[in-house]
Amino acid sequence: MNPTNRIAQLVEQLNEHNYRYAVLNDPVISDREYDALLRELSDLEARHPDLIQPDSPTQRVTSDLTREFPTVQHDVPMLSLDNTYSEDELRDFEDRIRRELPDEELQYVAELKIDGVALSLIYENGLLIRGVTRGNGTQGEDITPNVKTIKSIPIRLKACAEMGLFSNPVSYCEIRGEVYLDHNTFDAINVQREKNEENPFANPRNAASGSLKLQDAQQVAERRLSFFAYSFRSPNIQLPTHGENLSYLESLGLPVNTNRALCNNIDDIIAQAREWQEKRPDLPYDIDGIVIKVNSIAQQNKLGATSKSPRWAISYKYSAEQAETVLKHITLQVGRTGVITPVANLEPVQLAGTTVSRATLHNAEELERKDIREGDTVILEKGGDVIPKVVRVVTAKRAKDAAEFEFPKNCPVCDAPLIKDETEVAIRCENSQCTAQLKGNIRHFASRTAMDIEGLGTALVEQLVDNKLVRDVGDLYNLKLEELADLERMAEKSAQNVLDALEANKQQPFHRVLFALGIRHIGATVARALSDNFHSIDRLRETPPEEIEAVHEIGAAIAESIHTYLNIESNWAIVEKLRAAGINLESEAPADTGPKPLEGKTVVVTGTFTRWGRQQAQDLIRALGGKPTSSVSGKTDLVIAGEKAGSKLAKAEQLGIDVLNEEKFIELIGEENA
Ligand code: IVH
Repeated sequence: MNPTNRIAQLVEQLNEHNYRYAVLNDPVISDREYDALLRELSDLEARHPDLIQPDSPTQRVTSDLTREFPTVQHDVPMLSLDNTYSEDELRDFEDRIRRELPDEELQYVAELKIDGVALSLIYENGLLIRGVTRGNGTQGEDITPNVKTIKSIPIRLKACAEMGLFSNPVSYCEIRGEVYLDHNTFDAINVQREKNEENPFANPRNAASGSLKLQDAQQVAERRLSFFAYSFRSPNIQLPTHGENLSYLESLGLPVNTNRALCNNIDDIIAQAREWQEKRPDLPYDIDGIVIKVNSIAQQNKLGATSKSPRWAISYKYSAEQAETVLKHITLQVGRTGVITPVANLEPVQLAGTTVSRATLHNAEELERKDIREGDTVILEKGGDVIPKVVRVVTAKRAKDAAEFEFPKNCPVCDAPLIKDETEVAIRCENSQCTAQLKGNIRHFASRTAMDIEGLGTALVEQLVDNKLVRDVGDLYNLKLEELADLERMAEKSAQNVLDALEANKQQPFHRVLFALGIRHIGATVARALSDNFHSIDRLRETPPEEIEAVHEIGAAIAESIHTYLNIESNWAIVEKLRAAGINLESEAPADTGPKPLEGKTVVVTGTFTRWGRQQAQDLIRALGGKPTSSVSGKTDLVIAGEKAGSKLAKAEQLGIDVLNEEKFIELIGEENA
């Protein structure tokens, strides 16, 4: 590929990965993979400076600014560290320092690189006055109320007479460090999330970062975050070395990681790198490497910094943790849409802080490619996802008689023949009566983003299907109190609660019902577009696919899928059951057929409103012809800013985009629409 195209491709990929990492907290590649792409891009750009794109990730310090907290300027920018991945690169770093400071005596501090979220704390006269995220390095978000819930961060610094140095706390200082979650707390949070049918966090770092950005400090407190301080700066006190700063931080009452060491030369540094690589699995929290810092502050100042990172420090990053274990057997999981996923059942093993006993094998092709067999010894790794994957087989340890895995020909649940569609990788069970699919369908129907039926969790769905009380989602609304109360572990009170939830639930709008049906390719957004354009399930059923496809957001596969689904008798029977139960199968056609006030406009909502929640405000924009999006850019036509609007408002003002507050927005759309 020529450099122009490759650069364009890398910029696009990296920006998307960065967004997934920083905004969605849902990365799909590891830091190492990200850095490798970034390095490829900056090497290419160095060779072809004329091809540098303005939106290249090399052109800015990455940002974690998201939404709703006030933005504040850092006194001193929060830089990041340069990464190295090999001992040779560590040697290069040390050589560089020696070249820059010839004939000087050098010492280094090696510290753990805690895999959490950077935080800046400002203390005045010993009192914590502000806690700020790194943000884009220059500006961060003021999350003080959330920070105050972290028990190991002192609200008041200790007077440090004990140290014999100073009798009073400093009048002003900034302390930086890392917020993190230890493994036990992280596991407890995920157990709770699964109980609540929320997606588990992929790793402790994502959980810590998501927690710090919660709007409700009470909820943050429940996350039991921890903190390690790693830097201190004050106009009142200038200690000569970083090591002394760390000790001073301890005497002020801050938690400082005790796993740190003074190094006199590169051999000491490399010994530390190896030692912690070895001990890493035994630590009660995640680290992703170690950090090497020049100890003398005077030398740090001489070395200075680039716009992104200090020249006196470097991180040595470890690869994703791996573990070796035995794959006992391979089972098949049947998903809601009938897709079969092979799963590795493992001899339980510790990996990155959790016990792993299952790993996804993705699909038959992957199984074949990696030649994974039952009884094999395998290497596991956690990628960007919470579910570990099998990286490879240790073939040297394979039993001589290990047979190739033969992918079953029939569904493990209903025994129907499995079918491979030549156009995709997936192998499916196409029996719509398969109970595994039915259970998946009901769980989907009841889930938060679909019908949101409280109390209809996995265990109850299992019982309802196994006891043949429910044969399709239409049956849910015919359940009787006695039937439910007769189920194991179901008290009459809970049974009544489920019935009440089902009753209350009949008010859900049509687009949710359409999404809840679980029709292939019909996600929440498509369901909304279908509802907005066709207004009723009857009309949708009658409309030929070509006409459905004419709607802007709808492609051919979607149009075909909805048309086919609704015209299969057994599916339509489910719809009729829902109709009989009083479920919404129509959406209100907008009363006003005249021009819509936001027609064709791209609109961003930020902050909080008195009349609507975020979702409602976005629905409103859609209904008025606008397109709600989440980030402010040159393409944004309008920003609606509520109370406590933060960085998005600032950006809109910077770009000269029209901004309306709640009152002015209501004026624009008319009171009747608000
Ligand atoms: S020193 C100039 N020390 O790693 C940067 N950073 O890009 C000074 N981190 O998000 C950072 N443990 O929050 C330093 N012992 C440690 C650290 C550490 C974790 C984080 C830091 C930043 C990233 C570096």
